[in-house]
Amino acid sequence: MKTYSIANIPGDGVGAEIALEAVKILAAAGDKFGFACKVESYDWGCDYYLKHGEMGPKDKLTTLKDFDAIFLGCIGDAAKVPDHVSLTILLDIRKGFDQYVNLRPIKLYPGVYSPIRTATPESVDFMVVRENTEGEYAGTGGYFKPDQPEGFAYQTAIFSRKGCDRVIRYAFELARGRKGRIEGDQVGMVTNCTKSNALNYSMVYWDKIYREVADDYPDIKRDMALVDAMTMWMVKNPEYFDVVVASNLFGDIITDLGAMLQGGMGFAAGGNINPEKDYPSMFEPIHGSAPKYAGKGVVNPIATIESVRMMLDHLGEAEAAQAVQDAEIKVLEAGQVRTKDMGGTATTAQMGDAVKAALLA
Ligand code: IPM
Ligand code: MN
Repeated sequence: MKTYSIANIPGDGVGAEIALEAVKILAAAGDKFGFACKVESYDWGCDYYLKHGEMGPKDKLTTLKDFDAIFLGCIGDAAKVPDHVSLTILLDIRKGFDQYVNLRPIKLYPGVYSPIRTATPESVDFMVVRENTEGEYAGTGGYFKPDQPEGFAYQTAIFSRKGCDRVIRYAFELARGRKGRIEGDQVGMVTNCTKSNALNYSMVYWDKIYREVADDYPDIKRDMALVDAMTMWMVKNPEYFDVVVASNLFGDIITDLGAMLQGGMGFAAGGNINPEKDYPSMFEPIHGSAPKYAGKGVVNPIATIESVRMMLDHLGEAEAAQAVQDAEIKVLEAGQVRTKDMGGTATTAQMGDAVKAALLA
């Protein structure tokens, strides 16, 4: 039987309980579609830090590198470790494994309510391709006399030709695969989320590379939105978007807004992808670790199940991924099982069980 090796890093806060749902759905999908997942779990996170002085062992990338994929729950517990320290584990894996695409689907499933009035299952269905290894997250910067009156900090964004080209190209390839999404139109579209009116070096360069790449895709529509206007359009006309490509920070910000279009953080997932498969890719719900809810079983596991769906797709199990999505839709549309964020009383495990049952039905 085909067996995938999956590294499981539950992380902090509610991570442990959502990771159980990820493993549950992976196993059920394997049972149904004839493959197995060998899951290896790692207790890295803030408690590990309190014991060992670091978020995970020094050789963590060596440990992870031969897995077929990684599931990451959520990281961070500011009462134990400052966020900018704990989150290095996430950023180290993204950069270390050259997971240069952070793919975040923005889709509102039937039976789910968005707090945004324009959002309906018909209007909300697009993809954000977030650059994931450089840009504003390059980590280059420093302090000068931080405690003096003249002190300052600086942080430099890095936009390399290679880094921009490959992520923008990925977005165009993705748009080709989604042809016909825009009503009355048979072509796909890639919206360049930029800010080149103010960021006169980095985003002007990004735009230039966008145009160069777009020249290779004459069949795909070009489009551009300044990031501030983008947030307005996402609320006003979510149906407009097909594929959006954004720098690391802009992609981070607009996908939290995207999560609200999807019905909340409980529904939003992301794949940190190394498209060449030189390294394992990592899949995660994009919500935080919510330490105050840890162990209470109130968190919606749909975001986690969505990340498993993306993982299955990446592994080449397209049929299983589709079946997981169908199962989610069945449960959400029926509306019998609703977690706290959906105004219901179902627990994390009950929602996971319902999706599992629909998958195996
Ligand atoms: C995300 C998160 C991370 C990011 C944080 C936790 C460092 O917000 O995955 O969107 O900014 O990338
Ligand atoms: Mn974020």
